[in-house]
Amino acid sequence: MIRKCLFPAAGYGTRFLPATKVMPKEMLPILDRPLIQYGVEEAMEAGIKNMAIVTGRGKRALEDHFDVNYELEHQIRGTSKASLLASIDRLIDNCTFSYTRQISMLGLGHAILTGEPLIGNEPFAVVLADDLCVSSPNGVLSQMVEIYNRYQCSVVAVEEVPMSEIHKYGVIAGTPIDDDLIQVTNMIEKPVANLAPSNLAIIGRYILTPDIFDILEATKAGAGGEIQLTDALRAQAEQGKVIAYKFKGQRFDCGSPSGFVAATNHFYHLSRR
Ligand code: G1P
Repeated sequence: MIRKCLFPAAGYGTRFLPATKVMPKEMLPILDRPLIQYGVEEAMEAGIKNMAIVTGRGKRALEDHFDVNYELEHQIRGTSKASLLASIDRLIDNCTFSYTRQISMLGLGHAILTGEPLIGNEPFAVVLADDLCVSSPNGVLSQMVEIYNRYQCSVVAVEEVPMSEIHKYGVIAGTPIDDDLIQVTNMIEKPVANLAPSNLAIIGRYILTPDIFDILEATKAGAGGEIQLTDALRAQAEQGKVIAYKFKGQRFDCGSPSGFVAATNHFYHLSRR
């Protein structure tokens, strides 16, 4: 049973400066909702109720978003505008939100390790909110929970990307075991194209077993001088304990302007139907 979802959200969002100078990148809106809200909605749809958010300096807006705002609610109560808060109220009413701060930004692996006190000794999901995923009828995390329930090991979401883009991702190698499922044997963080073991890139959805914390503790800085989740997962993969899943659905890289615009267009067209 996956009960908790970790959201690493301490990064600086440098690709969107100056918009992200004082505003967390996770609060950038796609249409009417901030990126982090889409991630929390996807987790809730997967049956997860406990959201664990790793924040950092300057990220208080995240906590305020998942809380009541008495003055605003008082002002719009009884008007047609009150219903505009329905999507966020549903999350506040049904989920818990816990926070911890990452003091130094030492990489994704370090952010996950920072979240350990919020997770404890149980398997958990991870959502990188700038990868916005859409899929129906089941969201990507929901599909992954089902795979975790079947195999009881770590699961990473992957998709094929052009080789010209592969250096931006964690990349896997492995053996197919079923439709859309690969037993991972190796993984490399941000390889140069000619050293990439495949064109299957990890996207920001994971189910991790809690032994990952001990492995992360012992993981040295890797690509970019950062402690990489991919390096810790490779240790699990070498024991046959990581499955890659070619998810059903569409993913927008909202950390880049082109992905951000594509996601905005997608949700705009949906809202006009
Ligand atoms: C992180 C991970 C990488 C993964 C990517 C997906 O990289 O380290 O393995 O492929 O997210 O978005 P980042 O984009 O934070 O550099």
